Amino acid sequence: MHKYEYRGVIFDLDGVLTDTAHYHYLAWKRLAESVGAIFDEAFNEQLKGVDRMGSLNLILAASGKDFSEADKLTLADEKNLHYQSLIAQLSPADLLPGAAPSLQLIRAAGLKTALASVSKNAQAVIERLGIADQFDVVVDAAKIKNSKPDPEIFLTAAAGLGLTADVCFGVEDSIAGIRAIKSANMFALGIGSPAVLTEADVVIAGLHQFSLQDYLK
Ligand code: BG6
Ligand code: MG
Repeated sequence: MHKYEYRGVIFDLDGVLTDTAHYHYLAWKRLAESVGAIFDEAFNEQLKGVDRMGSLNLILAASGKDFSEADKLTLADEKNLHYQSLIAQLSPADLLPGAAPSLQLIRAAGLKTALASVSKNAQAVIERLGIADQFDVVVDAAKIKNSKPDPEIFLTAAAGLGLTADVCFGVEDSIAGIRAIKSANMFALGIGSPAVLTEADVVIAGLHQFSLQDYLK
């Protein structure tokens, strides 16, 4: 049996295991345009990994207009309904390249796996993708108080695995998520562009480039 530096891997969901980050993007873009806020890819990077109301508040601030709490809840619901319509047909075919093999490889090697997603839709998404049984622990919005970049979600996932932070690493596509992992004192594997994920320890383009061999002692 190989000896790995780590005993647990904690995965973000949206944009890491499946391209639902794109559906969040489309739903936020439509909402932003409806309130007159300028919305582009760069702005969207600031929303990734941030919870629903946090993201909405950033968009509304960019619109320069004032909204009541009741208006905000209505807008958040509208965005969520749009997002849910976009993910209605999600299936195992929507797993990103390398996602399923990486999970299988990690678990076959005896490491534990956890999901750390601030999305309230996370459980439905992993069920539709057919990977709900691939995690020893699932931590979603219902189980935490503070959204990424707070380390709480990664620390809660590690604790759920019965592991300390130093033997876990996190996998994330968002700036907020990488910050959360680093604040939790874990190794951060970024998924995406090194120019965006500047605080990650290592960045790969996608899980198709993931190799467990890189984590041998
Ligand atoms: C995160 C996404 O995983 O979940 C964000 O990166 C999204 O884009 C957040 O806003 C909250 O998702 P939901 O499904 O609870 O609105
Ligand atoms: Mg993500």
